[in-house]
Amino acid sequence: MAIKTAVVGMGNIGRNHCRTYKANSQAELVAVCDMDRARAEAAGAELGVRPYYDLEELLRSEVVDMVSVATAGTENGSHHYQPTMQALAAGKHVLCEKPLSNNLAEAKEMVSEAQRRGLCLAVDLNHRFTPATALAKEKITSGEIGELLFINMNLWIANRRDEPEYFHLRALHSHSVDVMRHLAGDVARVQAFFSKGPGRQSWSNASINMQFAAGAVGHLTGSYDMSMNHAFERTEVAGHKGRVVIDNSTVDFHWYPHGSKEEVHVQNAGGMTSFAETLPARLNRWIEQLVAGAKPQEIEGNGEDGLRAQAVVEAAIRSHETGAIVEVAQILSP
Ligand SMILES: NC(=O)c1ccc[n+]([C@@H]2O[C@H](COP(=O)([O-])OP(=O)(O)OC[C@H]3O[C@@H](n4cnc5c(N)ncnc54)[C@H](O)[C@@H]3O)[C@@H](O)[C@H]2O)c1
Repeated sequence: MAIKTAVVGMGNIGRNHCRTYKANSQAELVAVCDMDRARAEAAGAELGVRPYYDLEELLRSEVVDMVSVATAGTENGSHHYQPTMQALAAGKHVLCEKPLSNNLAEAKEMVSEAQRRGLCLAVDLNHRFTPATALAKEKITSGEIGELLFINMNLWIANRRDEPEYFHLRALHSHSVDVMRHLAGDVARVQAFFSKGPGRQSWSNASINMQFAAGAVGHLTGSYDMSMNHAFERTEVAGHKGRVVIDNSTVDFHWYPHGSKEEVHVQNAGGMTSFAETLPARLNRWIEQLVAGAKPQEIEGNGEDGLRAQAVVEAAIRSHETGAIVEVAQILSP
């Protein structure tokens, strides 16, 4: 049976969610919602569904199984809390855009509310939903890579928006930290330096060192001062038996076993040719898991993952502010 779906927030990303659900035979787009009436109506007309201006009214009037939250707000996250909590209160599963919230206390509440109600909460952590990442993960879980030693990642894009001061960190890096956590497990400790690009008021560059709970070390370089003319994301994981690289903005896979001169390069792994395909890949996996009746904790890229990634970002901000090494558990503790 198709998952009856409503999407809140009719910006570029929300409309993207709608198009993906429309194209998925296991989903049925039932309604759209935006507090901006013109946006809601334009999207409703384009998609052939009823537009709403208030989520409460939508939830009272329509039968839906799931709500996709694609609002934005400060640091692209402050508007996610209200519609997510409204949808959960109405007993609906929720997929929320990233960051879960720019406010960690709210993100914790969203996760515990979903847990309390036994509902699925997913986050649009689309960067991990690529065939190249799956190949890398397979080398790790199969043990072929050996004991994990280090993980290095860069995620750098062009974004001239310049406020508030931690916009780059909170708006972007739940993605990169999630990929690192997905491959190497929880991050225990963080140490960070930030810098400002020319003419910037905000911290648009970040160099973040991590120690993973399982013992590996890692590094993330992030920036909003690069261009989109070249690959903007690369992840490298090394073990004592080999090394994997996910390259060319998440689509290519490389394997370098230590014990041989052989190299395996898979260009456009799984047929994925561009980063733009990661958003539908993520949303389609969410639908697939809902149809299969996945339990909340089985959802890939779930609320807990979003929260833990956000906590690492907050640890980096605290490290930058204090000059100290910050324990992620301290950030997560109540
Ligand atoms: N996963 C990705 O790759 C990716 C990429 C870019 C952006 N994003 C995320 O997508 C989200 C949306 O981005 P965007 O650029 O489309 O934003 P946007 O600001 O263009 O659109 C958000 C819309 O939400 C509406 N809105 C806000 N609160 C509402 C509420 N309570 N009820 C109804 N409507 C409400 C606003 O009126 C606005 O039209 C952001 O969180 C951003 O971080 C994700």
